[in-house]
Amino acid sequence: MSARVETLHAAGPARRETAAGWSSRTAFILAAAGSAVGLGNVWKFPYIAGEYGGGAFVLVYLACVALIGLPILVAEILVGRRGGASPIHGLRLLARSEGHRDGWQLIGWLGVLGAFLILSFYSVVAGWSLAYLGHAVGGGLAAASRTAEPAAAMEGLFSALLASPSLLLLCHTLMMAATVLVVSHGVRQGLERAVRWMVPGLFALLIGLVAWAGVATGHFGDALAFLFRPSFGALTGEAVLVALGHAFFTLSVGMTAMMAYGAALNRRTSIGAASVAIAGLDTLVALLAGLAIFPVVFANGLEPGSGPGLIFVTLPIAFSQIPGGLIAATLFFAFLAMAALTSTISLLEPAVQFLEGRGWGRRGAALATGAAVWLLGVGSLLSFNLWSGYTVMGRSFFELLDFVTANVLLPLGGLLVAVYAGRVLSRDAVCDELGLGDSPAFRLWRFMLRYVSPVGVAVVFAHNLL
Ligand code: TRP
Repeated sequence: MSARVETLHAAGPARRETAAGWSSRTAFILAAAGSAVGLGNVWKFPYIAGEYGGGAFVLVYLACVALIGLPILVAEILVGRRGGASPIHGLRLLARSEGHRDGWQLIGWLGVLGAFLILSFYSVVAGWSLAYLGHAVGGGLAAASRTAEPAAAMEGLFSALLASPSLLLLCHTLMMAATVLVVSHGVRQGLERAVRWMVPGLFALLIGLVAWAGVATGHFGDALAFLFRPSFGALTGEAVLVALGHAFFTLSVGMTAMMAYGAALNRRTSIGAASVAIAGLDTLVALLAGLAIFPVVFANGLEPGSGPGLIFVTLPIAFSQIPGGLIAATLFFAFLAMAALTSTISLLEPAVQFLEGRGWGRRGAALATGAAVWLLGVGSLLSFNLWSGYTVMGRSFFELLDFVTANVLLPLGGLLVAVYAGRVLSRDAVCDELGLGDSPAFRLWRFMLRYVSPVGVAVVFAHNLL
């Protein structure tokens, strides 16, 4: 790998295709969509949509994805492919080739570090879906639903999970082991082979669940109205900012994950078209997740705005009241675990590419970074129980990592990528890489990237810090 980097260095921006890259455009789109689709879509989006009142929030979120997230997604993939190396190396090489300072590689350091930190607690939450898969298959959910007070029993199940370091550790370890296993086999033999069946499988499962929710609950219309009938009275400034922040997280931008995926992309694929497909699939999954979850919630007279516990407490309660609910619950948590895995691999990939660029073997790099992430994750899972007394600024270790990454690193990374692709790289370079010519589409994209995206991000950033 280091030899390859030197070749590139001598040759300027990459023009070669790596044998180890994605085998096709479809493979890349599946992998990037798999990265984008994750806990953000299934766990977070429904509960924030519920908390912020539904329709109007959804509309603002869609606008944020299209106007701010999508241009930055294009930029990040573009920078990755043109750099043609690990995120940090690629950023440095590209900046040099345009006569700029090496300091721009700091965007890469920030992203690799940020992805590393996100993965450490993301894996813990992803582990919850494995625990619930266990509860669904092993009878825990069924037993809780047969008690005199199913709602209290389901809450008990969730608190018991959070209170158990050993169960959390087991699930977190399984999640990280699966991630390392996939990543250690490389882009084509590992990531691509995993996403080729997982991402389509995930879609099939989700569509099945939406159909079931529509038929079995009889409340599909309520869910549609909730998600798509905007009532702007309920829309607050905070809701707009949450929608924007979530648009970044859900598209996986700002943390070099998409850059790492772009580095393995062939020159024939149109980045613009691929990005529209990725953002479209990601949005579709978020909306479908809402259409699978809310009919079940409304059928049981439950609250859509019940917060982070929505899918781990409210949904199991609801599932237990409906014919076929246990099977649906099993499929749902299996789907959630798969969606999380296709995201965790993208969060490990940047650090692994970085070490590879320094001469490490892929297997060793995946194991070493995976072990380090795992260790940090142990801190997160202990902060739910044994270490819950230790807080910084009123936040547990888990909450602190979530806060710093979501509110500082993610917007900062997104902003810097927009500046880098919109202002550091020359117009000619990005025009060439995008392959759209000097078309209206190209000009619109560059305008959004140079003016609209940075201002949008700066607003969220400032607000979140204050
Ligand atoms: N997009 C994923 C989700 O919605 C999470 C994710 C994967 C991510 N890779 C990322 C977030 C990189 C930020 C940066 O669950």
